[in-house]
Amino acid sequence: MTQHLFSAIQLGQLSLNHRVAMAPLTRSRAAQPGNVPSPMNVEYYRQRASAALIISEATQISQQGQGYAWTPGIHSSEQVRGWKAVSDAVHAEGGKMFLQLWHVGRVSHPIFQPNGGLPVAPSALPVPGKTFIIDADGNGVWGDVPVPQALSIDGIHAIIEDYRAAARNAMLAGMDGVEIHAGNGYLLDQFINSESNHRTDSYGGNSENRARFLLEVVDAVVAEVGAQRVSVRLTPMGRFMGMGDDTPEATFGYIVRQLAPLDLAYLHLVEPAMVGTVVDDNYNPRWDAIIHQLRADYPGVLMLAGGYTRETAEQALASGRADIIAFGRPFIANPDLPARLQGDQALNSGDGNTFFGGGAGGYIDYPAMA
Ligand code: FNR
Repeated sequence: MTQHLFSAIQLGQLSLNHRVAMAPLTRSRAAQPGNVPSPMNVEYYRQRASAALIISEATQISQQGQGYAWTPGIHSSEQVRGWKAVSDAVHAEGGKMFLQLWHVGRVSHPIFQPNGGLPVAPSALPVPGKTFIIDADGNGVWGDVPVPQALSIDGIHAIIEDYRAAARNAMLAGMDGVEIHAGNGYLLDQFINSESNHRTDSYGGNSENRARFLLEVVDAVVAEVGAQRVSVRLTPMGRFMGMGDDTPEATFGYIVRQLAPLDLAYLHLVEPAMVGTVVDDNYNPRWDAIIHQLRADYPGVLMLAGGYTRETAEQALASGRADIIAFGRPFIANPDLPARLQGDQALNSGDGNTFFGGGAGGYIDYPAMA
């Protein structure tokens, strides 16, 4: 049977009646103090509940896991209550929602860290980039990232427990599942990529060792909430935040073949031609080849994201490249994106100046169709 955007699909125990998912989107608008989802955040997700599945913005699993101003967490009871109000609103509209679990690793700053310490990473190698911090007057500013401290084995094990606790909290918050963020140059991706992982113990060296942390996190989270409520997001060949791997086909192929038998809700990949949010027009045949290979290695539900339009999404589904498509920026500006795509209607364009931080403007005031 040919797959298309408006055909039904089963995702773990969830029956979705179409395939337009909302990609995870950091919006940096959690209430302060405490990085707690607020009534304004509830309204934002409620407006977007017609997505086949909402994947929440990246949500830190611990204080140590935070790297940007005003991002929400899932490690305090206030945060669990805040997210429960979000999931209740989405469910009341007939929607479904997974919470994206996030640890930024080295992409952080002492202002976010417990006791003002150094951020953690596989190796003491700095990020070639900046992160969005809060200055003494409470304003968001881009700040340099210090050289991180390399994690000890005990430190790695403690973070696995933080993932487990965060997954449990996501269930208490009424989420339908969790997506483990293992892409975009954050902690788990820092372990996966040879560029940022120079360890010589069992968590560094060959692809199997570099994948170990992610696979142990997946095992812990699956044991906590069940495989059908778990997914993983990877950005194979992504170069955001200084990522790079000597053998991406082997590394990501290994990871996907390890994930395949676990019967997860879905596997989420970002098109390798996306650098952050920019499509790299310098066509590289390895991009297509790696997706092709990973698709062949993964018999379960495969979600793809990255620069999709109605037309390219339909092509990807028809060809079997993907089973479900996640849209990011189009969902920021079009709360009723599925209806617009189904009717082939015009889309609102988003204002990049209000993507990160601020209030209701550029957040909950994008109009639905009349
Ligand atoms: C993102 N993206 C992203 N990815 C992720 O895994 N977790 C996150 O929290 C975020 N946050 C985020 C914020 C904003 C403002 C943008 C634009 C993007 C990446 C996003 O999920 C998606 O992969 C890209 O935006 C590409 O898809 P589109 O926008 O071309 O459909």
